[in-house]
Amino acid sequence: MDQHLISTVNRLQDAFATLGPTSNPIDLPQITVVGSQSSGKSSVLENIVGRDFLPRGTGIVTRRPLVLQLINRAKGTANGTSSESSEGDEWGEFLHLPGQKIYDFGKIREEIVRETESKTGKNAGISANPINLRIFSPNVLTLTLVDLPGLTKVPVGDQPKDIERQIKEMVLKYITKPNAIILAVTAANTDLANSDGLKLAREVDPEGTRTIGVLTKVDLMDQGTDVVDILAGRVIPLRLGYVPVINRGQRDIEQGKAISSALEHERDYFENHPSYRAKAQYCGTPFLARKLNMILMHHIKATLPDIKQRIQSTLSKYQAELAQLGDNTLGTPSNIVLNVITEFCNEYRTILDGNSQELSSLEL
Ligand code: GDP
Ligand code: NA
Ligand code: MG
Repeated sequence: MDQHLISTVNRLQDAFATLGPTSNPIDLPQITVVGSQSSGKSSVLENIVGRDFLPRGTGIVTRRPLVLQLINRAKGTANGTSSESSEGDEWGEFLHLPGQKIYDFGKIREEIVRETESKTGKNAGISANPINLRIFSPNVLTLTLVDLPGLTKVPVGDQPKDIERQIKEMVLKYITKPNAIILAVTAANTDLANSDGLKLAREVDPEGTRTIGVLTKVDLMDQGTDVVDILAGRVIPLRLGYVPVINRGQRDIEQGKAISSALEHERDYFENHPSYRAKAQYCGTPFLARKLNMILMHHIKATLPDIKQRIQSTLSKYQAELAQLGDNTLGTPSNIVLNVITEFCNEYRTILDGNSQELSSLEL
């Protein structure tokens, strides 16, 4: 599969982000996570990344949107220097800390907590102002994901009286975009019919063309019960289906259980469980990650003509502006941004021309 297209889309998004949120003319596909508080949204994201770095736990932990770009960076690529490889192949970079590579994922988590508290205080407050983080790693699929605060009803701590409405609006801002892919997370030990995530997803995606159901906490279901009926589409059918996963429980987190052993446990669980073993390859985090990437590719393919059109009109607008400014302003920050955008647009066109055939041969 072609990772280059998705990584170009990610870079385009970054280039426009430097212009500030209001001047971003391109609405690129993103995978959003929505569900009740403590349904396991942050845990799902962390398992997809395969590293410990997200604050998670009981209560409201995620209190600002986190826009997370995973960028697959193969080992020993041309621009990897020896000093980098001695530090490690995986690092994070925050948009608010430009140029700082953070190799210690514990420090990434600390920075998310620090940056969350700097805008929302320490007492459960929330903010719609997103944190932007990029993770570079040879062990991830190239994806952009958005972690969002959980849907909740009763205000606690510094939360406003209308917390339910505020979080709902914050989540809707991300999932309403027609090109957002919605990961609707529901704990398997709760009633699917009461799923806040599914309810909200349905409001903005009634046809279910961009909603994937994720069932967490399958390990916490009562003995003798399972999610087979849900997976078979006999409860609330979803066109893109459901993926059952098992994340680390609170005790695993407290005891510092490694993600690798959690993923091993997850695989063993599905492969050996009488209800799931016949379909084990369609269960668990690795299948979810593959499914997400394929859906993202299809989505990009479907929106290519529109994105191309928007890039071209934006590009001509900036080129006209540049022509008016004349030569003596070369090297000013706005020109640097313009150059970056121009470079990406050219690269994007090349990709569009080269890859349409490969894209049309993709099947889910
Ligand atoms: P969020 O609020 O939706 O982001 O949920 P978190 O990822 O912060 O998880 C909330 C709590 O549920 C944490 O204590 C997790 O350890 C626990 N948890 C999440 N997923 C699972 C799961 O699949 N199995 C078990 N046993 N616990 C889980
Ligand atoms: Na939580
Ligand atoms: Mg969370």
